[in-house]
Amino acid sequence: MDQELKIPEHIAIIMDGNGRWAKSKGLPRSVGHTNGAKALQRVVEACKKYNIKTLTVFAFSTENWGRPKEEVDFLMNLFSRYLTNQFDKLIENKIKFNVLGDKSRFSPEIQEKMIKLENATKDFNEFTLNVAMNYGGHAEIVKATKEIAQEVKEGKIAVEDINEELFENHLYTKGQSAPDLIIRTSGEQRLSGFLLWQSSYSELYFPKIHFPDFDEEQIKLAIEEYTKRDRRYGKV
Ligand code: FPP
Repeated sequence: MDQELKIPEHIAIIMDGNGRWAKSKGLPRSVGHTNGAKALQRVVEACKKYNIKTLTVFAFSTENWGRPKEEVDFLMNLFSRYLTNQFDKLIENKIKFNVLGDKSRFSPEIQEKMIKLENATKDFNEFTLNVAMNYGGHAEIVKATKEIAQEVKEGKIAVEDINEELFENHLYTKGQSAPDLIIRTSGEQRLSGFLLWQSSYSELYFPKIHFPDFDEEQIKLAIEEYTKRDRRYGKV
């Protein structure tokens, strides 16, 4: 590639295709998720290497609770182990960890691990890993609206004070830049409620590869694709 690479500040990934990856190999879906977790490790390392500042990944949607109990239980176990295993690693690599989503639906044990990891990494500012869990874009917007309505009701703010900046301060991504590039693996071309507010000017990229096969080379290809995009933000 001749052109110098344009590095996005914030990449977001819908980690899709774990099930299809497993099926294509005659393996249970759970093996797909385990290998998805391994791919996530590679992607975090690659993003750090390319000097990307923020990586947001969609791990579990508000709709994913509707999957068979066995699969939900497996994913909860995987998340729980991830939160434990990653504790030292995230600190060692100075990675700020945030959960985007409503934590209250998780088991007390998982909630405790999430909060512990967020607190232990909150002062790092080189690289942020946001993991969207029990996240839905509609639910996030409704949450923000309720909080703002409550503030108006209590007389803390006036209706006239409501603007985009104030609204953003009630989103899970408060204080963070919007994603420059959103990747959905597996070839599906939709956002499925991921970062609905934040994605208004994001570039979208839909590689056909399943998430468990995602790696540094794929991040490089995504950055090369992003480099070709002409971002005009509604201007000429
Ligand atoms: C979508 O693939 C994937 C998920 C719903 C789970 C995502 C979880 C991981 C990548 C595990 C790692 C995450 C953490 C935080 C440890 P799918 O199951 O919908 O695949 P399919 O569309 O091919 O069936």
